[in-house]
Amino acid sequence: MGLSRALDDGDVQALAALDALCFGEEAWSEEQIKGSLSLATTKGHGWFDEAAIIAFYLAQKTGDETEILTIGVHPSYRRRGLGRQMINHILASQKAGMVFLDVACDNVAARRLYEGTGFTPFGFRPRYYKRRDQAIDAINYHFILKG
Ligand SMILES: CC(C)(COP(=O)(O)OP(=O)(O)OC[C@H]1O[C@@H](n2cnc3c(N)ncnc32)[C@H](O)[C@@H]1OP(=O)(O)O)[C@@H](O)C(=O)NCCC(=O)NCCS
Repeated sequence: MGLSRALDDGDVQALAALDALCFGEEAWSEEQIKGSLSLATTKGHGWFDEAAIIAFYLAQKTGDETEILTIGVHPSYRRRGLGRQMINHILASQKAGMVFLDVACDNVAARRLYEGTGFTPFGFRPRYYKRRDQAIDAINYHFILKG
């Protein structure tokens, strides 16, 4: 466990399966993942156990701002530090500017991960995520790199 590499078109199917395990009905489709990875501004990175992908993130970089679009760890591999490792990988890939994301306000695991790695809340989007008949508020977090 722990080997990581950049993701590409060949990873789309496995990535969509892992995304579904992580996000259920809110998961991205293969087409959405493929479309995102095809953008010059978007990078994907995955962590592997043998050949199987167990953790991943997609991030979009514009100038010196990076948005974490999605990040997830296979349920069987959680609470082993992979989430923190991925956040540190993203922060290490940038020297200055800002890394930001939004998260559902009821996602305790993710919010603790971000707060524990130095992110701070800076915005609030009421009813941002739709889950069946529910609308969930989002919180925006950022990490300012000193440069
Ligand atoms: C959020 C997620 C990526 C965390 O991944 P992870 O590999 O389990 O995280 P780590 O093991 O690195 O945990 C780092 C810290 O985050 C916090 N944390 C992680 N999972 C937690 C949980 N279930 N409950 C409370 N705190 C949690 C803890 O502070 C933890 O540190 P500790 O283990 O030393 O106490 C993972 O739970 C996941 O994939 N969730 C589903 C997808 C998702 O919600 N992604 C985020 C969308 S914004």
